[in-house]
This record gives sequence, C-alpha cells and structure tokens, in this order.
Amino acid sequence: MTKAFQTLKGMRDVLPPESARRRALVDRFASAGTLAGYGEVVVPLVEELGVFERVGEATDVVTKEMYDFTDRDGTQIALRPEVTAGVVRAFVQHRPLVPWKVWYSGTNFRHERPQKGRYRMFDQVGVEVLGVDDPDVDAEVIALAVAFFAELGLRRVRLLINSLGDHGDRERYTEAVRAHLEARRAELSEAARDTLGRNPLRVLDSKRAEDAEAVRTAPVVADFLSDDAAGHYQRVLAGLDALGIEYEEAPRLVRGLDYYRRTTFEFVADALDAAQNAVGGGGRYDGLAEDLGGPPTDGIGFALGVDRLLLTCDAEGVFDAPQHTLDAFVVDLVGGDAARDLTHLLRANGFAADRRFGGGSMKAQMKAADRSAARVAIIVGEDEVAACEVTLRPLRDDGSSQRRVARSALVDELRAFLQ
Ligand code: HAM
Repeated sequence: MTKAFQTLKGMRDVLPPESARRRALVDRFASAGTLAGYGEVVVPLVEELGVFERVGEATDVVTKEMYDFTDRDGTQIALRPEVTAGVVRAFVQHRPLVPWKVWYSGTNFRHERPQKGRYRMFDQVGVEVLGVDDPDVDAEVIALAVAFFAELGLRRVRLLINSLGDHGDRERYTEAVRAHLEARRAELSEAARDTLGRNPLRVLDSKRAEDAEAVRTAPVVADFLSDDAAGHYQRVLAGLDALGIEYEEAPRLVRGLDYYRRTTFEFVADALDAAQNAVGGGGRYDGLAEDLGGPPTDGIGFALGVDRLLLTCDAEGVFDAPQHTLDAFVVDLVGGDAARDLTHLLRANGFAADRRFGGGSMKAQMKAADRSAARVAIIVGEDEVAACEVTLRPLRDDGSSQRRVARSALVDELRAFLQ
C-alpha cells in the first residue's frame, strides 16, 4: 500500500476555521503596528548559519535546536529559530534611516521536544526598533504588546521585567552567578550542572526542585548594574507607570537568547500550564548589529508566540474564529450557466458568493446554501430564465420574504437587500 504521509513531529497543519483566527490575529497585530509607525519587514526563512550563531553560542536554541545543514552550494545555512537576527542582518545590509521601526509575522523552527504549546515549527509576530537608545522606546514597545493582549480580550497575561545591564555588567554578573553555582555544584541537578559549564545564567531558569535553593540565593543582577544601565531601567519603569502598565520586577529573568543587554522582559499567561506559559518576550540587544558586521546600533523588540497566544485565547474563552459568511449562494436548476455567470458577476461586484458544482436537485443545492450560512439564495429555474428574472430567497429568519427581481437589477437589489 502507498504510504500516507503525515506532518513531521512537532509540526502542524492549520486548517479552516482555525486558520482564519490565526490570520485575524496577525491582521490585528499589523494594524496595531501600523498605527504606531511600524512598517512590515519580510526577511528570509533561511540565513547563513553565522547569522544565528550570534544569537547565542551558549544557548540551547543555537547549540541543540537549530535546523542547520549544508546546501547544494556547500554553504552552511539554517532555518531561522527566531526573526530578530535576520532583521538585524537586514538592517546592517540595507542601512535604512534610523529610527527603523518594523513589525513582522512568520514561521520559525526549533528542534525542541514537542508538547502542548511547544512545537518544532511555530509562528511569531513581533516588532524591532533599531537606532534608538531612549528608554521611552522600551516603554513604547512593551505598551504595544500589552495593548495587543487587551485587544484580543486577554486579561491574565503578566509582564515580567528586568535589566541585564551593559556589556561589562552582564559579564561580571555571569561570573558571580557561575561562582555561586560552582560552590553549590554538588546539590544541583544533572541538567543544571551541564548548563552551568556553558551558560550559568540559564541555570537561573531551572524549575527543578534540586536547584531551587541555589537559584533562590543567587546574586541578583541589580547589584551589578552600571549607573547608566540603572538609570535607563528606572526611566523604563517610570514610563510603564505613567502609561498605567502593570509589571513585576523579576531580578532573575535571563531569557533564552544571548544577545540581550539592559531591558529584558517576558509575558506570561496564567491561563496556560506553567511549563509553557511564556507567550512572548523581548528586550534590548544593543550589541547585535555590531556583532553582525554593522555599526554600533541600539536595538529593542519583542516576539509573541502566535500558537501560544491562541491557546491562551482558548483558555480564557476569548477571540473566537471570525465568522466568514457568504452574502449569496446561487442555486441553478437549469444546467449550470446561471451558477457560473451569476457567481462571477456577484464576486466582481464585491459580494461574497458561492455555488454548488455539479448542480444537483433543488434540495441538495438548498442544503449546500444553508451550510454555507449565506444570507440569501439566488434561485434560477425554468420560470426565472423565461422571464429574465431570478428569485431572491432569504435564508435567515429576519422577516423578509422571497421575491423575484429582474436579472439585470440583481446587483442593486441584492445590495439593497443586504443593508
Ligand atoms: P523567544 O523568547 O525565544 O524570543 O520567543 C518568543 C516567543 O515565541 C516565546 O515567548 C513563545 O511564546 C514563542 N515560542 C518560542 N519557542 C516556541 C516553540 N518551540 N513553540 C511555540 N512557541 C514558541 C525570541 O524569539 C526573540 N527573537 C524575541 C525578541 C525580539 N527579542 C528582541 N526582539
């Protein structure tokens, strides 16, 4: 028997009507971005491997989860695990005027262990701002995400925020955490001991019971911030206060990518299981453009996980799939020409219209019309053809009754009927 193929592990098809919901979510995000002065950027799904290695040579995303391979030209390439690195690469390549404010939506790939809310192929929407050092832009991007959650109807998403300090601060902090954890190496979980060698800050993310005490007593980054970084952070918090945005300071929030400096934040959904409750995250990456061969340029942004956002909407019972219903369904009892021509005519005039292929009995066609949830059936039988007319039959119980109209007046009559 021929093999019936399935999607790869951790990858999913998105079918209607769920796809309409996803599209609606991205459209909302696009409108929010556009209103705030962000233009859409589209960057490739694949880049040279080196672009993503800058995301963090010590992170799981790069060392364990990347879909990388050698293409037919012998170039080392990878499917993108996130969008920020590609956007910064594009900035360095094209050198647009700053501030460069962009939004994006698209698919990413990480070879993770799949579970609910964690997939190998997932979508994000996000924004990036290049070339602005002003802490008020940090508050602006956070406010954009918070307003977006509210627009979806979500009420139980919390903002966690921290500052990782400047280049030197982060390194000094990392060393202090390393020393602290090394001193407690014996009590740490095996996974934490393994991570410690590569990336001590990531151990602070551990949710394992054995690591809890060492994490609880670890140094906090606030004690390592330069005056500059501390001042920046305070201004960001003041901005959030001024905008009425609630936040929780999370001194051990480190995030899973290495490029962060200064402001870092995460959005967690209380309606999701704790293991996968991060619906988004972001922060500053002021050194990344330079790491990718460009001029020193400040940068900040965030990405939201579309799949997890939709799961959160399910859990909170908000943001249903939009109802795409038809205006009219053409029922043709005379051989198909009317169905073909009238459906085309209606669509050309901006109506949402459909028909049943292969004709069939009145009963079969009316059943299809009902299923389509169209507001009106346009029926063409022998009588109608002889009189150059069509019958408009309302399909919803709104008190209006069936009537015959001249075929030449159909567009106007239908428009009037639908008002
Ligand atoms: P991230 O925290 O790695 O940050 O991902 C952002 C969001 O993408 C996560 O909070 C989560 O909702 C979603 N996500 C990540 N991995 C998966 C997965 N395997 N399955 C489902 N959803 C997932 C970034 O990607 C940064 N580029 C954010 C950023 C933009 N920082 C600055 N600018």
